[in-house]
Amino acid sequence: MVGKISRVAVIGVGTMGSDISLLFALYGFEVIVYDKSKIALDNLEAKQRKTIEELQQVGLTKKGFEDVQDKIAIANKLEDVKDVGFVLEAVAEDLDVKRKLFAELDKLPREVVFATNTSSLRVTDIAEGLEGADRIGGMHFSNPPILSLMAEVVKGEKTSEETLQVISDVAERIGRKPVVLRKDVNGFVNNRILMGSGTEALWTLHRGEVTPEELDASLRAIGFPMGFAEASDIIGLDIALDVAKNFIKAYGKRFEIPTGLLESMIKEGKLGKKSGKGFFDWSKGSPVIDMSLAGKYDVSRTLAVATNEAFWVIKDEVTDPETIDEIIKLGFRSPVGVCELADAMGLDNLLNTMKRLFQEYGIEVYRPCPLFEEYVGKGWTGKAAGRGFHKY
Ligand SMILES: NC(=O)c1ccc[n+]([C@@H]2O[C@H](COP(=O)([O-])OP(=O)(O)OC[C@H]3O[C@@H](n4cnc5c(N)ncnc54)[C@H](O)[C@@H]3O)[C@@H](O)[C@H]2O)c1
Repeated sequence: MVGKISRVAVIGVGTMGSDISLLFALYGFEVIVYDKSKIALDNLEAKQRKTIEELQQVGLTKKGFEDVQDKIAIANKLEDVKDVGFVLEAVAEDLDVKRKLFAELDKLPREVVFATNTSSLRVTDIAEGLEGADRIGGMHFSNPPILSLMAEVVKGEKTSEETLQVISDVAERIGRKPVVLRKDVNGFVNNRILMGSGTEALWTLHRGEVTPEELDASLRAIGFPMGFAEASDIIGLDIALDVAKNFIKAYGKRFEIPTGLLESMIKEGKLGKKSGKGFFDWSKGSPVIDMSLAGKYDVSRTLAVATNEAFWVIKDEVTDPETIDEIIKLGFRSPVGVCELADAMGLDNLLNTMKRLFQEYGIEVYRPCPLFEEYVGKGWTGKAAGRGFHKY
């Protein structure tokens, strides 16, 4: 069926939809885009031009915007989105907004397949009550999608095998490895691990223990492509707050963040990169991080919390350590996965870090997952012991 799909739609052209629609065009699809905001549609061309220039600069494409321009058409109303085989939804991270949109999209012919790029909602919940619930699946890109090399492909309770196959095939046709998750949980895998560490980073910033620049310099120094403050700015602080609220609803206090910090920044219009200011000033381009500040933040805290969330993902039977590592490596072009890294650092060391932090601050983000304790208790402490997340 997917072989026949040559025309797709992207609904919502904010941070994600802008890049994803460009990606489709770069890989030869005809794309129709729709956004309820006229400003977003008016700004799309300039944004995509800039993205393609950035890709050219790092040697990731030889194409110019002129080569793909004709492939991207704009719909001024949702009803103009038609004659497509596939629709990718990238609108606001709000269950009601997504449900209402899919209720409209469900009027499209039965053979059209839908995917949601949600980062914190379950596909099953988004599809609830829809006649075409079987034709919706998850297709979650990491940000920036233009650089990420995989998409998490997620089966909701009613998603059909055919839908899953179509989404996987579409991912492959745009050069992204589909990593299929058959258990539909809020945040899937990638975002759970990211949000776990992000939660710890936000608390550390909130307590005034480090500045955004010190945090990011320290994480960059150990090989992160960027730190959490910069990543939050790129994600958008409003989206990050919505995602955090959905995580708290789904998983409880473990993902509780100091919401006041983000709320006051959002009130001041500091949404991150998209508004020109967030933790950093973006008005003159990407922030330049002073690397002499590296070391002011103890990065083992990030790694301990990421490891803890990886254990929760496994305990919840979402997937296995191999897949977690694959998602992190391909999603962030990272040379190493979180489980491999944790095994190399010693799970016992990381568990001690969690215990120390939990004792010091008493907040749930630092409470060790029971499976983490079980592994260390069995002597499965990582590479040196011959067994950790992985067997050596
Ligand atoms: N920002 C990230 O890092 C990231 C990463 C992965 C997934 N996601 C997910 O992708 C989706 C979009 O996120 P984003 O960061 O691009 O958000 P964004 O706020 O940058 O853009 C959302 C766009 O959707 C439009 N929109 C809202 N409601 C709409 C509707 N009913 N119909 C049509 N358009 C509508 C808005 O006008 C806006 O242009 C969310 O589900 C988010 O969770 C975001």
